[in-house]
Amino acid sequence: MSALARLATRVAYGATQLPRLAWYAGHGYAVQRLAARARRREAADETPARQETPRSGDNRAPVLSNQRLYGDMAELLARDLAHVETGLYPLPADHDGSLPTLIRRSRLFFADLPDIHRRRTEGRHDEVLDETTRGTRPDYYLQNFHFQSGGWLTEDSAQRYDTQVEVLFKGTANAMRRMALPELAEIFKGRDQRKLRLTDIGCGTGRFLDFVKQAWPRLPVTGIDLSEAYIKHARRHLRRWSRVAALVAKAESLPLPDASQDAVTCIFTMHELPPKVRREMIAEAARVLKSGGRLVIVDSLQRRDVPDYDGLLERFPQNYHEPYYESYLDEDFVQIAKANGLAHVREEPAFVSKVMVFDKSA
Ligand SMILES: C[S@@+](CC[C@H](N)C(=O)[O-])C[C@H]1O[C@@H](n2cnc3c(N)ncnc32)[C@H](O)[C@@H]1O
Repeated sequence: MSALARLATRVAYGATQLPRLAWYAGHGYAVQRLAARARRREAADETPARQETPRSGDNRAPVLSNQRLYGDMAELLARDLAHVETGLYPLPADHDGSLPTLIRRSRLFFADLPDIHRRRTEGRHDEVLDETTRGTRPDYYLQNFHFQSGGWLTEDSAQRYDTQVEVLFKGTANAMRRMALPELAEIFKGRDQRKLRLTDIGCGTGRFLDFVKQAWPRLPVTGIDLSEAYIKHARRHLRRWSRVAALVAKAESLPLPDASQDAVTCIFTMHELPPKVRREMIAEAARVLKSGGRLVIVDSLQRRDVPDYDGLLERFPQNYHEPYYESYLDEDFVQIAKANGLAHVREEPAFVSKVMVFDKSA
């Protein structure tokens, strides 16, 4: 890349990424102010049930400094940019939507905060399990994950989801998702992308598949998710691309033939699954992969990956209903993968996430 092209890439990257960081970090700041105001109001009302009770003998690890956090965010974005500069993937288009769309999603996001706050303080996370939903999905799935209204089930939840995730990660969720792309590039290199197959399990609203298609526009891809609303959203989000299938199905029983996929990905979904379902999902990934195929998982850091982050990880499920996160923190993915014929290739931290890579022996 010439010096001029490099400069143009850096300017273009900054011009797209910095405003989104500011947008979502601004949301995060507003959420903190609103939460502080709600706490003051509750303290003044003397509603004991709603007051935060300090944990006695709290022996959790300390939370790392903002300075360290922002430094690691900057490092993640520098890696993202370096991947673009070395041609691993094109300058990313986040496709966040037009300004009216962003504002509509932002309103939905803020409108849900009082209900989230109520569920969090009352410990309620079962509002989506009722007579209309019972039996339509596994019970573990029918919860108010993140305390959000509608759990994974509603249109509004699908519309709100990406704002929530980006606010949580201060605008870096997409950059963390893109850290899976070099791992795919490594096995796709020199091959005809039209003849390869990739499936993304728990594809949600389709953000990761969009980046896959930006890198390999002719690659046939399949997104699988148990939420009809999220799949509908993913289809809309991915409609600019051809060779995309988006299916409503369970991670633990994929509607795909044995040895049919060159790559399987799973982004920010593993920590949402009960331990038993995690194992079933990995067994399914191994079943549908061709020999020589690759499983790439991007999800939260686990305990002791980067010890300075342990305090942050341990506090995360307190504020977001994450019923399986505690068990995720100590899950042994290398052993589960090995038991299913998948060899551990590498894993690497990426800000608050990590990328885990497993290959099915050729
Ligand atoms: C935290 S979201 C992650 C979505 C997306 N991969 C991303 O990058 O943001 C978890 C997703 O997994 C889906 N999911 C949870 N359990 C599932 C299961 N057993 N089978 C299929 N999808 C599942 C949910 O519907 C939701 O869309």
